[in-house]
Amino acid sequence: MIHKIEQKLKEMLDEKRYIHSKNVLKAAIELGKNFNFDLEKIKIAALLHDCAKNLRDDELLIKAYKYGIIVDEIQKIQPFLLHGPVGAYLSKFEFGIDDEDIFNAIYYHTTGRKDMTIFEEIIYLADFISIDRNFEGVEEIRKKAFENFEEALLMSCNSTLTYVINRNLPIHPLTIEFRNWLLMKGGK
Ligand SMILES: [Fe+2]
Ligand SMILES: [Fe+2]
Repeated sequence: MIHKIEQKLKEMLDEKRYIHSKNVLKAAIELGKNFNFDLEKIKIAALLHDCAKNLRDDELLIKAYKYGIIVDEIQKIQPFLLHGPVGAYLSKFEFGIDDEDIFNAIYYHTTGRKDMTIFEEIIYLADFISIDRNFEGVEEIRKKAFENFEEALLMSCNSTLTYVINRNLPIHPLTIEFRNWLLMKGGK
């Protein structure tokens, strides 16, 4: 199963993104060990999280309409945000993976969302701390991920928001909801 997915994914992604996907898989396994999850499922979600990443903006929009994804205002001006939702549908219809956890983990891996499951959180965080990441503060998040999973998620969300704000880009509402939810469940 995994081997087949890797073969197909290799044809869909450039080398850098393929390597990133493999790195996210490694990070997700490490994180997943701390929870009682089916590692095979974690591997599939991690491998496929960016399967739509090599699509151009116009292709993402076309596929979004094809799959009936409601494209919001922010996604219209930043179609790359659609690589999560479109990737989720590709995993279902191109890779034949019919699993709600995998679908949602891929769908929300860029924005996050409130009420994320731990499975979704693992993929979100693994994407952040994979070894190919080198943004400022990544080492701290990497360390925290294995000490305090929830706090590492909040740090990742903050880092995304800082990035978006520094570039004067619009913030996706799901990311705000994700952050508020993280803060509230942490009792802060
Ligand atoms: Fe992504
Ligand atoms: Fe990624």
